[in-house]
Amino acid sequence: MPMCGIVGYAGTRPALGIVLDGLRRLEYRGYDSAGVAIVDGAELVACKRAGKLTNLEKAVADLAAGGADLAAGAVDRAGGGDRAGGGDRAGGGLATGTTGIGHTRWATHGGPTDRNAHPHRSADGRVAVIHNGIIENFAALQAELEAAGVELASETDSECAAHLLAAELAALEEGAPDQAIAVSGVPSSGAALAEAMRRVCRRLAGAFTLLAVDTAAPGVVVGARRDSPLVVGRGEGENYLASDVAAFIAHTREAVELGQDQVVTITADRIQVTDFAGNPTTGREYHVDWDASAAEKGGYDYFMLKEIAEQPRAVADTLRGRFTEAGGIALDEVRLTGQDLRNVDKIFIVACGTAYHSGLVAKYAIEHWTRIPCEVELASEFRYRDPVLDRSTLVVAISQSGETMDTLMALRHAREQKARVLAICNTNGSTIPRESDAVLYTHAGPEIAVASTKAFLTQLVACYLVGLHLAQVRGVKFADEVAAVVAQLEAMPGKVAAVLETMEPVRALGRELAAARSVLFVGRHVGYPVALEGALKLKELAYMHAEGFAAGELKHGPIALIEEGTPVVCVVPSPAGRGVLHDKLGSNLQEVRARGARTIVIAEEGDDAVVPYADHLVRVPATPTLLAPLLTAVPLQVLACEIAVARGHDVDQPRNLAKSVTVE
Ligand code: AGP
Repeated sequence: MPMCGIVGYAGTRPALGIVLDGLRRLEYRGYDSAGVAIVDGAELVACKRAGKLTNLEKAVADLAAGGADLAAGAVDRAGGGDRAGGGDRAGGGLATGTTGIGHTRWATHGGPTDRNAHPHRSADGRVAVIHNGIIENFAALQAELEAAGVELASETDSECAAHLLAAELAALEEGAPDQAIAVSGVPSSGAALAEAMRRVCRRLAGAFTLLAVDTAAPGVVVGARRDSPLVVGRGEGENYLASDVAAFIAHTREAVELGQDQVVTITADRIQVTDFAGNPTTGREYHVDWDASAAEKGGYDYFMLKEIAEQPRAVADTLRGRFTEAGGIALDEVRLTGQDLRNVDKIFIVACGTAYHSGLVAKYAIEHWTRIPCEVELASEFRYRDPVLDRSTLVVAISQSGETMDTLMALRHAREQKARVLAICNTNGSTIPRESDAVLYTHAGPEIAVASTKAFLTQLVACYLVGLHLAQVRGVKFADEVAAVVAQLEAMPGKVAAVLETMEPVRALGRELAAARSVLFVGRHVGYPVALEGALKLKELAYMHAEGFAAGELKHGPIALIEEGTPVVCVVPSPAGRGVLHDKLGSNLQEVRARGARTIVIAEEGDDAVVPYADHLVRVPATPTLLAPLLTAVPLQVLACEIAVARGHDVDQPRNLAKSVTVE
């Protein structure tokens, strides 16, 4: 199941609260259903519910309080039978077990129901599994299981993994149990579960993160990953597994990044990693540099509001440490040599959604500064159009989460064609940077809201840095020219903060527009991608039709959409830049106004030419043309957010969406 939240715990404390708290921090990854499985001695209790995490928390509270069994499929007990082993407490070991796994789901195979929620259990009840990703060969596996007499309880691909694991465990226990590689410090039953996991993983096609627990291996959680995120949290006398460090950061900031096709076994005091063949290996240890509070709302009603407000610091943090004393660019962390960069004769930027829009802005800057042709492609289209790539091509993959499957597959295609791949990413330890030749991390901090805001601005900053770095290394810009742009960039955090100070009229306008049927966005040059981004924000947050256009395109058709009162947002370029652009957008403003449009104009302070055509005028500080999107995007974020709030939507978790789209 793609785009899900996954948590595992093995330690000495009761696992339930730790797992539920972890799920709460991952709910943004998918919230169609949720479930937990807790092992206490030889007893396994699983509880799962459709809907948001609060439904599960209520079910668990009822269960722990000895409430009656909940809706069929919501509560499973096993101790080798259907009934809870051990005591006859209604909640069984739910509240006391110190080993557990948990899952929040974004539904693909099978609707968001109790039965399709994770965890899924083997027929004998001894194994519970949670899964993120898609098992592409599950139909064949399902047929094999049904032929063997297994009765599937759900419509999901994930359930197959539970039955396959149980079958492998049975085979191991019937055969020579020592076939399972005994691993020091892990109970032999844990080694058996790990070996069974390796055998199952070798049979799966597709992308997956799997976690499993086994009543025969109390104190052990086994995980596996291919093309889907899984990170280890190393604690004191306890260890964690999760799809994102946010799940365990309240307990430890020491993390271990796992590589492709790896199986990890955790107990209270051991972390063992092997490849799918069983060869011991290690993950990359790293320290997570933000704390639990950063992943909280910090007093804002929504994560999105907090993240909009964090943009000045996010921009400053992404710039920090990347300049020389002389005002040049210093990107030593980017593992591409000067020669690699001088060899580049073509650039492709591949990304999705908001990240794609940041790439569209980057194109203008990179081509202007470096004179290298730069194409921007939707990642989901890129590899299917058979692009012309070779060793002199630089592919820049932009991704906040670092797990977007479309973007991952695009960069894999690029590498197969021998192109160099540079990732721009906000998530340390994620898959896209790991599979790229080099990475430039944005430092936006955790972006929890599904609608991307601070990640967008920091992606722009990272793209500007890459463009200037290329120009500097290739000598197409003198040091003083680079230093001049660097000085402009260093002023941007303050200018973003200045824009945020003047957003009250935009919020008021948002409340007025909440009843609008549609909003159009127009811009020219770098204002055009900003128009696209403004439209995307409105679509995904307010569920309102919105469309972004190049202003010059209006007269070629879209202007027919204008009727009395149609709201049209116009992103006006600086008059100090290419004046012709400014004047032409002025004409476009008049065109739409003459047809009854309600114009909302984003323009620089001092630009008085637009005043006669603006029903609403939003000012931003004067800024060089290429850097203006860092400012003009902010009112559009605020507008969309306010309209969504006025419409009563869940701003952080818009319907049908999830934060990380790990399915193609
Ligand atoms: C943006 O508001 C959306 N949430 C979405 O378009 C997002 O930008 C896109 O899915 C790409 O995600 P990524 O940056 O994590 O790769």
